[in-house]
Amino acid sequence: MPTSSSFTSLPSQVRALRCILCGAETLDPWAWSCDSCGPDSRMDVCYHPSGDLRERVAQRPFDQWRYRELLPLPEGAELPPIQVGGSPLSEAPRLAQALGLRRVWLKDDGRNPSASLKDRPSAMAVVLAAAAGSERVVCASTGNAASSLACLAASMGLPATIFVPQRAPAPKLAQLRIFGARVLRVAADYDTTWELCQRIATRRPWFNRNCAVNPYLVEGKKTVSLELADRLREQIPAWVAVSVGDGCTYAAVVKGLEEAHAAGFIPFVPRVLGVQAEGAQPLVRALEGDGRLELRSAETIADSIAVGHPRNFQKALDAARRNEGRFLAVSDAQILQGMRDGARLAGIFAEPAAAATVAGVAEARRRGILGSQDEVAILVTGNGLKDTATALTAVEGPEDVPADEAEIERRLAG
Ligand SMILES: Cc1ncc(COP(=O)(O)O)c(C=O)c1O
Ligand SMILES: [Zn+2]
Repeated sequence: MPTSSSFTSLPSQVRALRCILCGAETLDPWAWSCDSCGPDSRMDVCYHPSGDLRERVAQRPFDQWRYRELLPLPEGAELPPIQVGGSPLSEAPRLAQALGLRRVWLKDDGRNPSASLKDRPSAMAVVLAAAAGSERVVCASTGNAASSLACLAASMGLPATIFVPQRAPAPKLAQLRIFGARVLRVAADYDTTWELCQRIATRRPWFNRNCAVNPYLVEGKKTVSLELADRLREQIPAWVAVSVGDGCTYAAVVKGLEEAHAAGFIPFVPRVLGVQAEGAQPLVRALEGDGRLELRSAETIADSIAVGHPRNFQKALDAARRNEGRFLAVSDAQILQGMRDGARLAGIFAEPAAAATVAGVAEARRRGILGSQDEVAILVTGNGLKDTATALTAVEGPEDVPADEAEIERRLAG
């Protein structure tokens, strides 16, 4: 926890932090768990009613700070100088046709500064860390949260220490190093790495960006829903789809849609389809079973969602129940197909964890969860260039040809 701070009280638009287990509220901005429910409990940020925001935001830039009435921004807080959010939304008619759906939109959050949706919560983190006078920001991550924190911290001149598991792909490591973060690569999986980081960070005056404990990060993530709602308004589809690892993003997407509805942007709250990998599907099992978390090791090519112990399990589960959302799992083969489909039918190169969402929508259609008249917005949470090694396993290699014009002509004719 920081020592000197201009972030000693909740910003005026925030009503309270509320325990997700017992509902107890606090005005202490640093109470990240509930006194009654213990250190494993989690808090949610609650706002004063904003009223209809449609007119109020209309003249503001299209980035994630556009919705400041619904963000825990301290008065006069310094914002990162690079654009976060405001990601492009496009319709994908050929993908819709291939999936057997009426309409599909892709919101490409791979077009953020470090190429994933995680730039949204990382931006929230560095703004609060700077306001709090923290000496350093820290997180453990499968890769994207780390690279985004390194990027955003660099943009604000804040030092960052990052814990990554052994399997973090090389491009994500390259991002961390080039942005100048101190990187501790732990000889273990993500779950162990997370535990270590948590214990070490708690002992220091560092700002902890771990989404599962820091209640403010969901607030950054939810802006993807606010933007979607703001752009589509009455056209908002009945379904939004997103992939799920720790569950933080899922909970955030639901919260954002609920708040967008309350703020007048959309006429109803869409249902949210959560997609996991077959080798890492604790939330699917919990929702299909008795709601209890069963810990298993995780195995999937989609490194960003290779999570056996989801740290935002309860928030995601509560959100899915409130939302009447659905969860399903897809195989690695389906994820590779999702990568090809997104790229070839819509021109969007998604990393495996993001392509899992395309695959999940296809699977939902096959199972009849989605019908031919349904419309879906797919959140593309990370860019394919973050893991080219996996992408290359989804495709045939190039055709090697000699530097011989006649021979190339012969092959082209063949
Ligand atoms: C590209 C991508 N998609 C989806 C997710 C899942 O988000 P969460 O762990 O919050 O469930 C992540 C998390 O790292 C991610 O990087
Ligand atoms: Zn409580």
